[in-house]
Amino acid sequence: MTDLVVYNASQVATPTDDAELETIRDGAVAIDDGTVVARGPTDDIVREYPPENAVTAIDASGATVLPGFVDPHTHALFAGDRADEFTAKLRGTTYQEILAEGGGILRTVRAVREATRDELVANLLQQLDVMLAHGTATVEVKSGYGLDVETEVKMLGAIAEADDRHAIDVVSTFMGAHAVPEGMDADSYVDHVVEEQLPAVAERDLAEFCDVFCEAGVFSVDQSRRVLEAGREHGLKTKIHADEFERLGGAGLAAELGATSADHLLQSTAEDIETLGDSAVTPVLLPGTAFALATDYADATAFEEADIPVAIATDCNPNCFSQSMEFAIELACNGMRLSPASAIRAATKTAAAALDRTDGTGTLQVGSPGDLVVADVPGYEHLPYNFGVRNVETVVKGGEVVHRD
Ligand code: NIG
Ligand code: FE
Repeated sequence: MTDLVVYNASQVATPTDDAELETIRDGAVAIDDGTVVARGPTDDIVREYPPENAVTAIDASGATVLPGFVDPHTHALFAGDRADEFTAKLRGTTYQEILAEGGGILRTVRAVREATRDELVANLLQQLDVMLAHGTATVEVKSGYGLDVETEVKMLGAIAEADDRHAIDVVSTFMGAHAVPEGMDADSYVDHVVEEQLPAVAERDLAEFCDVFCEAGVFSVDQSRRVLEAGREHGLKTKIHADEFERLGGAGLAAELGATSADHLLQSTAEDIETLGDSAVTPVLLPGTAFALATDYADATAFEEADIPVAIATDCNPNCFSQSMEFAIELACNGMRLSPASAIRAATKTAAAALDRTDGTGTLQVGSPGDLVVADVPGYEHLPYNFGVRNVETVVKGGEVVHRD
């Protein structure tokens, strides 16, 4: 018996080590023991893996099969409601003005400090359900709405519990350096992150990555370096919020530290792009953030021209409230002018690289994790072409159907 065979697909599309996006017409994929064991034309695959001998057989006639999406940058665990800030931003108030008045991140911090761990788990599970329905099979979630030991640990504990209870794989990132809490200066807060929060998080083995908001008025390059180097000493890999509002030097710091990813990069210059290209850092672009802030998008085509693959993510958070990788792919095309093939690769294989997943996650290559989506479209181009709707109808994680319309 094979665990799962999906066959008769109008198209199977996957990035591979050799091709940006390989497509097979009338294709099929077989999954056994949680991993992809075969991919090819339906006739060939069903001969070796007959659907009648599979635990689950999916006739994907008229549909497209893609790898499960990987969302490598979110702040999807939060409490409270900031819909009124959305309205204020539409009236012209800026994100930084809201933050300077104690709103924005600081307002979510107050709500998260008040929430119980169970409430946080329930909130995250709700977000994960929506993400899954849009095809996300692996997601990164950051802490950073606690800004004290107790609440950062509470958040990371809630992330771990949600990971245990949900089909989506959740990768956790410690981001104590997300904002400077009210009543403190940045330097003494960095001392607190390094001396109190990081040891508490590392001791409980609660995070894989350490991230920092390297931004004018938040954490300087030197303060960011201090946090990230301390994270390394505790065994945490490196991510950086770089050059989102101002070009402070976050991209250069990412290259200097050999970060796994540098994220946002809205203000990055040609020089920064060259620096990143000379490094192993994966750039993560967040088109939803530019959309929500009504600013220019990151210069995705400059990365493309320099032959640097980019990842995309939703950046799901109370300022950019979208759980949908389908929407991120649509914006990557319609807003950042990536081709549909590049956008899908950015949402799968390159997104997995931004999470240091080297086991084939984000592809349907033989030996990769058996994570796929079946989208009700005749070919991959239709996914961003037909925007603003949910095209994903079935999601498979590790060879099991975990979402079906
Ligand atoms: O990636 N830029 C900093 N952090 C988030 C926003 C978080 C928030 O506004 O709550 C981001 O966009
Ligand atoms: Fe972020």
